[in-house]
Amino acid sequence: MDLFEYQAKQLFAAHGVPVGLGEVADTPEQARAIAERIGGVVVVKAQVKTGGRGKAGGVKLAKTPDEAESAAQAILGMDIKGHTVHRVLVDPGAQIESEYYFSFLLDRSNRTFLAMASAEGGMEIEELAVERPEALARVPIDAMTGVDHAKAVEILTQARFPAEVIDSTAQTVVKLWQTFVEQDATLVEINPLAKVASGDVLALDGKVTLDDNADFRQAGNAELEDTAAADPLEARAKEKHLNYVKLDGEVGIIGNGAGLVMSTLDVVAYAGEKYSQLGGHSVKPANFLDIGGGASAEVMANGLEIILSDTAVRSVFVNVFGGITSCDAVANGIVTALGMLGEQATKPLVVRLDGNNVEEGRRILTEAAHPLVTLADTMDDGADKAAELAHSAK
Ligand SMILES: Nc1ncnc2c1ncn2[C@@H]1O[C@H](COP(=O)(O)OP(=O)(O)O)[C@@H](O)[C@H]1O
Ligand SMILES: [Mg+2]
Repeated sequence: MDLFEYQAKQLFAAHGVPVGLGEVADTPEQARAIAERIGGVVVVKAQVKTGGRGKAGGVKLAKTPDEAESAAQAILGMDIKGHTVHRVLVDPGAQIESEYYFSFLLDRSNRTFLAMASAEGGMEIEELAVERPEALARVPIDAMTGVDHAKAVEILTQARFPAEVIDSTAQTVVKLWQTFVEQDATLVEINPLAKVASGDVLALDGKVTLDDNADFRQAGNAELEDTAAADPLEARAKEKHLNYVKLDGEVGIIGNGAGLVMSTLDVVAYAGEKYSQLGGHSVKPANFLDIGGGASAEVMANGLEIILSDTAVRSVFVNVFGGITSCDAVANGIVTALGMLGEQATKPLVVRLDGNNVEEGRRILTEAAHPLVTLADTMDDGADKAAELAHSAK
């Protein structure tokens, strides 16, 4: 999970990393009130989960509360790289003397952690890494030894930070490492880490990515989630512990096992392509849904319920390979699920079963003779049928 800048800086502050941090506003009037409280120059900053806000006009200096209000007016609703701005952060204006860069991240390819630092911050770090790679220090961090003051000094020296800021910045770097470890982050980034007129070095921007796999031991993570941005169906699926991702097509997909679901997406996309050749639009998968190994009737009902409430869905393809859960159990699950859903089930279902106890599974579905269910013999046939049904329902 990526955090907003204001959340990132709140986390930094909680761990003792010095930050320039004001308050967030949803309206221009609130921005004005915050500017009045802060007094003096403020900076109004778009809160969107993407970089380059400054370049896009999403960071504006305001000398008076009036200016803060009109800056917020201009920024709220702005589109920055496909992200709409719903909120601004009003921060105290800093008198910047120098801008540095610092980050810790998980370096997957080298199976280690990495510190990246540069005395030339501010600009986009990707550009610096390409144009002047020697200006960007990259120092691997051993997970067992971590970062103490001496290690921090080593990194900052290698990154050519000016001598007079190294000692104080090293203290900040140690706290940033503690933030990284204690929050189970995979990225903490400060750009710019700024030296201001008072001589202090503080985080004026913040980027944090938290590891979702650690949610079970990070009670605070739930609060940091941007529920407004989450797809409502994805949110509901998450509550029901389903592995569901919404896509933009018309054929709902249910399968067991991520590999099978992925290949089902491919065959459906392939089967749906021919409709674009006829001058129409191609038919595509509407979602990814893996119901896992133990497909009980309840899990099947939950999955079907989520998929059927997606208004874009025109047909559903259930593609299950019976293993631990045999095909007869899956077939019973489908029949029970359709019973539980009753009138809610309105879209045609193509079911392909194979594997353990497949004859019994097919017999159950044939006998139930639900008007919405069509049986398919193979995965390709099923994909063809589901795409055709979705196409003709358009
Ligand atoms: N509180 C502040 N006071 C003065 N200038 C700021 C402040 N915050 C940001 N800036 C300036 O705006 C630039 C862009 O802001 P930043 O928060 O880094 O957004 P982004 O990285 O998305 O462009 C910074 O590099 C800095 O020069
Ligand atoms: Mg920045």
